Amino acid sequence: MIEENKEKEISIAFIGDIVGRPGRKIIKANLERVVEEHKIDFVIANGENASHGFGLTVKNANELFNCGIDIITGGNHSWDKKKDMITLLESKPVLRPDNYPEGVPGSGVKIVEIGNVQLAVINLMGLYTMPQVLNPFNHILEIVEKLEKDNIKHIFIDFHAEVTAEKRILMQLLKGRVSAICGTHTHVGTDDQEITDGTYYVTDIGMTGCRDNVIGMESDIPIKKALTGLGGHFNVPNNCKSIMQIAIIKIDEDGKSNDGFKIKIYDDKEEVISHCIVN
Ligand code: FE2
Repeated sequence: MIEENKEKEISIAFIGDIVGRPGRKIIKANLERVVEEHKIDFVIANGENASHGFGLTVKNANELFNCGIDIITGGNHSWDKKKDMITLLESKPVLRPDNYPEGVPGSGVKIVEIGNVQLAVINLMGLYTMPQVLNPFNHILEIVEKLEKDNIKHIFIDFHAEVTAEKRILMQLLKGRVSAICGTHTHVGTDDQEITDGTYYVTDIGMTGCRDNVIGMESDIPIKKALTGLGGHFNVPNNCKSIMQIAIIKIDEDGKSNDGFKIKIYDDKEEVISHCIVN
C-alpha cells in the first residue's frame, strides 16, 4: 500500500530566473544530473531573462527544453523579444503571467499530465512596480476555484512580483489549496522556505546566472545610474562567477507538498542544500 502511494507522489523542480548565457550554461552543465539524482518528474523554469537578460528567443527556449526543462514561465520581461515570444506562446509550453488583460496572446495556465497526475502550472504577476495587470489575488481565486471543481489537486504557481508582502499574502490566501507557490523576479533568493497545510512556499527562489554583480547584470551601468540618475543598457557579463538555484518539491497523491528543499550550485562545483520547515 505504501509503495502504491509512493508511485502517486510526484517530484517537481523549479529553477529561478535564468539570466542570459551564463544562466543557460550552468543549467546545461547540471540539470540532467540533478534530475537523475533527485528523481524529478517535471521541471519548470522562469525564462523571462534568459536571452541576454531581456526576454526569451525561440532559439534559447529550445536550448532550455533540450536541457530537460519541461515548461517555461515569464513575467514583466516576457515581451522584450515580442515576436519570438508570440511564436513561443502559440507553439511551445511557454507561459506569460495569466493576469494580463483579455486579448493578450498566450496564457498563464497549463495543465500537464505526469503519469496519472494532472498538474496545473500557473504564472501570475504582482502589482507594485510591475506593468499594469489585473489584480492577481482575485484572479487566482477564480482559477483555483475552477481547478478545484475540475478535481485538479496538483497546482504550482510562479508568482512574479517585486514585493515580499504580496508574495506572503498569496501564500496566506492559498495555503492548503495549492501545492506550491514560488516567488520570482527579485533575483535574490530568500531563506524562508516552508510547507504550511501542504503548500510549499518560498518568497523568492533567486536567479540562475552571474552572481558577482548586480542581479545578474554587469555592475558599471547600475552604479552609474545610482550615482547620477543617468541610465544605459544593462549587459549580462561574458565571464563571471555563477549560481544555479533550484527548488525540489515532493507532492503527494492529494496535491499536498510533504517535502521541499533548495539546491544552490556555485560555479558547477560547490553544492548547498537547504531544507524547508514543515508546519
Ligand atoms: Fe521580472
